[in-house]
Amino acid sequence: MMKIMKAQDYEHASRVVANFLAAQVLLKPDCILGLATGSTPLGAYQELVKRHKEGELSFAQVTTFNLDEYFGLPPEDERSYHYYMHYHFLDHLDIRQEQTHLPNGMAENLEAEPKRYDGLMHQAGQIDLQLLGIGLNGHIGFNEPGEIINDTHVVDLTETTIESNSRFFQRSEDVPRKAITMGIGTILRAKKIVMMVTGENKAKALKNTILGPITADVPATLLRLHSDFTIVADAEALSLVQDRLDLAEI
Ligand code: PGA
Repeated sequence: MMKIMKAQDYEHASRVVANFLAAQVLLKPDCILGLATGSTPLGAYQELVKRHKEGELSFAQVTTFNLDEYFGLPPEDERSYHYYMHYHFLDHLDIRQEQTHLPNGMAENLEAEPKRYDGLMHQAGQIDLQLLGIGLNGHIGFNEPGEIINDTHVVDLTETTIESNSRFFQRSEDVPRKAITMGIGTILRAKKIVMMVTGENKAKALKNTILGPITADVPATLLRLHSDFTIVADAEALSLVQDRLDLAEI
């Protein structure tokens, strides 16, 4: 079932998402969290770090698996998702670093890496809560429009994604062309999915996700098949569906 929570703005949505993650950790201290990168979850991560520093929340028993990683960027490269996760979140917590996982974008055998990552997830057990953002083209993780692949896999990024992510690179030629991503099936296996969407530039992708036909052309629409799928969005992101759904602010 899909549930939509309307927040006022980015800060409000960040607090709501932080609450979901905090509640998960409080209820099950040894939970498995599926984590996302990008601009969207930064506020929620900041809020969780604050709560941890204030002594409200311990991540000592938590395990994490990230959705994706670029191919060819080493962990110390500040544009890699390894770097992002450590810089913005993991290094500020009491989490055991060996319990945190991302696909290895520097794997010598790139074709074998998806299997290795799926094996680790399989061994750890079901993800309790998967956090997601959404791409301008409706991608989730790096599952780009057009093809549904269930397991972790290597993907060629689309031009839309390369262009959108070029804001983190000096030149768009510098954006890696390949990435490793959890598949749609992996994502749908999580017990609970929380997708955070903010800003007017995401309004069209969100409208397609909520109201459009379920299609591989908008990978996020497949999340509607999940039994526990919550969208936390701000008023701007919901601007194109507001009239149809008449959502009250939370
Ligand atoms: P963003 O990326 O949070 O930087 O907008 C989201 C995504 O592409 O999944």
